[in-house]
This record gives sequence, C-alpha cells and structure tokens, in this order.
Amino acid sequence: MDFENPDFLFVRVDGRLVPRLFPFFYRRYADTIELQGDESVLDFGAGSGGIAMHLAPRLGDGGLITCVDICPPLLGIAEKRLRRYSNATCLLGRIENLGLEEASFDRIVIHNALHDIPGDERKDTVAELARVLKTGGKLHLREPVKPSHGATPDEIRALMNGIGLSEERASEYKLFPIGPVYDAVFAKKG
Ligand SMILES: C[S@@+](CC[C@H](N)C(=O)[O-])C[C@H]1O[C@@H](n2cnc3c(N)ncnc32)[C@H](O)[C@@H]1O
Repeated sequence: MDFENPDFLFVRVDGRLVPRLFPFFYRRYADTIELQGDESVLDFGAGSGGIAMHLAPRLGDGGLITCVDICPPLLGIAEKRLRRYSNATCLLGRIENLGLEEASFDRIVIHNALHDIPGDERKDTVAELARVLKTGGKLHLREPVKPSHGATPDEIRALMNGIGLSEERASEYKLFPIGPVYDAVFAKKG
C-alpha cells in the first residue's frame, strides 16, 4: 500500500466511512488512555483522526494533540475533524524529518499503524518516537498480530526494548474486524 499516494477507495472507506460509522471502535480504545488533560500527546500514524478526535476533547488548557501521518488525504480529513480544537495540530511527513523537539511529548499513541511501516524502517521510526518522548512518558500501542498482516508481540517488544522503552502492561485479544491484536503500554524510564 502506497500511503503517500493512496487509492480513492481506501481514502473513502478507511478514512471517511469507518470512523463515522463505527466511532465506538476508536472511542473505546481512546478511553483506555488515561489523561489528566494537560498532556502533550502525539498520535503517530493518525490517519483520518479516528483516535485523535476522541482524545482532543479530553485535553484542556495546556494539553496538546499532534497528529503525524504520511498520507495527505487522510491527514486532510483529520484536520477537518479536529478543526474545532485549538489544541490539535496535524503534521504531514515522516517523523524522522519533522524536526520535533526532543522530549516534548508525555504520551505517544500508535493505533494500527506500526505494521504499515516496512520492517527495515521500523527501528529508525521508533527510535525517533523514543527521542521525542519525555522521560516518564508512555507509549500506547495497539497493533494487529496476524502473521500475514502485522508483527508478533515479541517482535514489537524487542523493538521497543531496543530503544529503551519497557512494557508496563500488555494483553492480546481478538478485535473485530482486525483479528488478533497486541495492546500494550510502554514506559520511558529515567
Ligand atoms: C491502518 S491506518 C490507521 C490509522 C489510524 N491510526 C487509525 O487507527 O484509524 C495506518 C496509518 O499509518 C500511516 N503510516 C504508514 N506509514 C507511516 C509512516 N512512516 N509515518 C507515519 N504514518 C505512517 C498511514 O498513512 C495510515 O494513515
């Protein structure tokens, strides 16, 4: 899948229709992310904002949400969905090239996006995520783990451990329509 030049049907179905028809799918996951309201949150691989639109209203003064994605039409939809929130920003491009400030995020969310990054690029991408995460910050991840479409939990754990993040809690379960998923929180310790 070429996310930088996606086909019309993908944008229409994954980008527009799914978050509109099944908001609870995103909201239920977003609700598992504990927030006080003043955090700086990075939604990596945010797509059309399905998760971010449920996090933005929970962030008050001092809270910020930044959506990063490489897919222009999906991020364009996210921008529209989030335009009522002055604390939401959308950034298009590879995270490694965005020049984000070191240790600037309290939370990073990766929902159903890591597996879409080619295996040989994942290490550099997550290293950049670890760089921009504050010490004491947390990375929340939910990823498909079907061998045909995803990475195994052990592979993801090894990737995260390699950049200094340790698993705080994790579970594996089946989620319609994705299938088996790995749902974990990693912490960046001092
Ligand atoms: C299956 S979609 C999930 C989108 C969203 N997180 C959700 O749960 O609806 C995967 C997303 O990852 C994005 N993506 C793929 N490679 C990426 C990269 N290198 N950097 C940032 N985003 C990327 C795609 O453009 C796409 O929006």
